[in-house]
Amino acid sequence: MATLVTGGTGYIGSHTVVELLGAGKDVVILDNFYNSSPKVLPRIAELAGRAPAFEECDIRDRAGLDRIFETYKIDSVIHFAGLKAVGESCEKPLLYYENNIGGTVTLCEAMAAHGCKNIVFSSSATVYGSGNVSPLREDMPVGGTTNPYGTTKYYIEHILEDTAAADKDWHVCLLRYFNPIGAHKSGRIGEMPNGIPNNLLPYITQVAAGKLDHLNIYGNDYNTPDGTGVRDYIHVVDLALGHLKAMDYTADHAGVSIFNLGTGKGYSVLEIVAAFEKASGVKIPYEFAPRRPGDLDSVYSDPSKAERVLGWKAERGIDEMCADSYRWQHQNPNGYED
Ligand code: NAD
Ligand code: WQD
Repeated sequence: MATLVTGGTGYIGSHTVVELLGAGKDVVILDNFYNSSPKVLPRIAELAGRAPAFEECDIRDRAGLDRIFETYKIDSVIHFAGLKAVGESCEKPLLYYENNIGGTVTLCEAMAAHGCKNIVFSSSATVYGSGNVSPLREDMPVGGTTNPYGTTKYYIEHILEDTAAADKDWHVCLLRYFNPIGAHKSGRIGEMPNGIPNNLLPYITQVAAGKLDHLNIYGNDYNTPDGTGVRDYIHVVDLALGHLKAMDYTADHAGVSIFNLGTGKGYSVLEIVAAFEKASGVKIPYEFAPRRPGDLDSVYSDPSKAERVLGWKAERGIDEMCADSYRWQHQNPNGYED
């Protein structure tokens, strides 16, 4: 039996596939390469010692999904495929609703039609909105999202909950990721942002590589110890390993399970700059800039439920996260195009 990994050539998906293959699981990747490169596939095979099956397909393509479910024996799905750029989602909300929500509905319809009702979904800390105070717990209210991207995650959680309520055969796991950073220790796979990065670590690594002049730090008057925003950064390999634990748990538990995947520790932007400089030996020039609309002071998880229930805990610290981000950037200045 195989696991279908939608979005499996993307940043988090590729790291998860390496860990799944390493644990002896059979994997079928589905991706349309909207935000990834086919060149990641041989690197996954190189790291794992064997290749996953791959199907170029869109999650909105019902006929394509049917063909995949008919070709392989699939008993579970890890659903990463989606668009994730907050700014772009404000400019193109319909694209985000159609791709993320429409795609998930089509995927679930195809799954149900082929008797596969076991899904682990990539949700986000963004579903906690702005109304909760960190540390964020899974039983806190969700909603009040501030951009269409975040709203797609909130709606998809609801859709999967309604689906599981209507049909007791569904096994659904909602994983709320905090801020994934870092890369595989080999430096062979990592994050490949298109254009100017929106997120902090890819921006810093491109400043380190000399591609960008300096970092703009969005706000130094937040209610945090040094005035800059605090987030819960998690190494992408720890996150990937969380999926393996979640998958095994979900196979045995019908209904909906929800887990935060974070470290529980917050770092400010200035602390990240300092950690990155220490790990890389490269100075990161920065300037303070106005706050970015929609940003919050401090967002970090209470990760204790995942440890208690799944037996999963993030092991890699901030120095390792920064060193691995830098190694990936340094070895692949143009991402997979090198
Ligand atoms: P990514 O863009 O690297 O990977 C997503 C993959 O999905 C890409 O390979 C893309 O080509 C594919 N894809 C998009 N739409 C598709 C479609 N219609 N059909 C088939 N493939 C499609 O992003 P990532 O950082 O690896 O994120 C993976 C998931 O985790 C996403 O759902 C994202 O929203 C979620 N998430 C990411 C973060 C983060 O900070 N990276 C945080 C929380 C949640
Ligand atoms: C982190 C901190 C910024 C860039 C976003 C999404 C969220 C989730 C993860 C998917 C903040 C500051 C950033 C820069 C800066 N994605 N910053 N200069 O905003 O916590 O979360 O990615 O679900 O939904 O909203 O992450 O990396 O963009 O920012 O000062 O050039 O770095 O203000 O304090 P964020 P981020």
